[in-house]
Amino acid sequence: MSIYRIAHLSDPHLPPPPDAFGWKDVVTKRLLSRVAWRRKRKVHRPEVLAALVADLKAANPDHVVISGDLTNFASHTEIMAARAWLESLGPASDFTVSPGNHDALAGAGGPERFAAWTPWLGDAGEAAFPQVRVRGPAAIFNLCSAVPTAPHLATGRLGAEQLERLDAALADPVHAERFRIVVLHHPPQKGAVSRRKALDDQDALRAVLARRGADLVLHGHAHEALVGAVLGPNGSVIPVLGVPSASARPGGHSPARWHAIEIEDGPDGGRRARIVVRGIEPGRDGLAELGRYSLVDLARKATLHTDRASL
Ligand SMILES: [Fe+2]
Ligand SMILES: [Fe+2]
Repeated sequence: MSIYRIAHLSDPHLPPPPDAFGWKDVVTKRLLSRVAWRRKRKVHRPEVLAALVADLKAANPDHVVISGDLTNFASHTEIMAARAWLESLGPASDFTVSPGNHDALAGAGGPERFAAWTPWLGDAGEAAFPQVRVRGPAAIFNLCSAVPTAPHLATGRLGAEQLERLDAALADPVHAERFRIVVLHHPPQKGAVSRRKALDDQDALRAVLARRGADLVLHGHAHEALVGAVLGPNGSVIPVLGVPSASARPGGHSPARWHAIEIEDGPDGGRRARIVVRGIEPGRDGLAELGRYSLVDLARKATLHTDRASL
């Protein structure tokens, strides 16, 4: 029985290049974030990210989803450094990137700000959202919740237009038989993060998911391995999974992990999936398998809407 593996990592927060700031940044949110980075650089370690990427490459997944916060201040040099990092990983068609709030920290809004990452956003050849990528048995619905925010806020927003297009894409019968994965940076369920960091239009997203359904939602942003759930059509439950930062140091609150989503055909003609968790174990060098879970069990475990359960 063939298994299709999608790897999920998030929030690498790549170290900023030395010239990541310009004089224009003096009065912007970037300056505040630069101050915050002095603290964060102790948490986000390039050697940890390198070990995680090596572990992921050794597992040879069929596709990789990266759910945002590649950068810290979203300066042009950082966006280009992140592009170089993405290029180093492999062919862009094997990697799907959903931008995070740190990738849109300040300046103009709109998806065109991610033009430099176009080959990693989808197959459309433009920086637009959502984009649907069909890979193996999966259809990946890539959203962008990254918008510039006021200082000390890390909220996200999808907007009515993106949600309308998501509604239509999820309803498209061409994807009905596929394993439908919705990807965005901010968690869609209530209570997953504080209001200061939450998705502004999460109610509207949950309404689309309740109407159209999906098999799995992946997110980052919380820097934790969260398992939650949102309602699908006819009282069904859609599992929601968050993964910690891919560069978070060992010994901290939530050390680096990545998840493998293994999709296979079930005996009843349907599809089933399991999650394999790989991460840093205390007192050990490198990454190891920390557990494996069936998606059905995870959905059962999750408490609707208010869940902050850890995986
Ligand atoms: Fe982050
Ligand atoms: Fe974030």
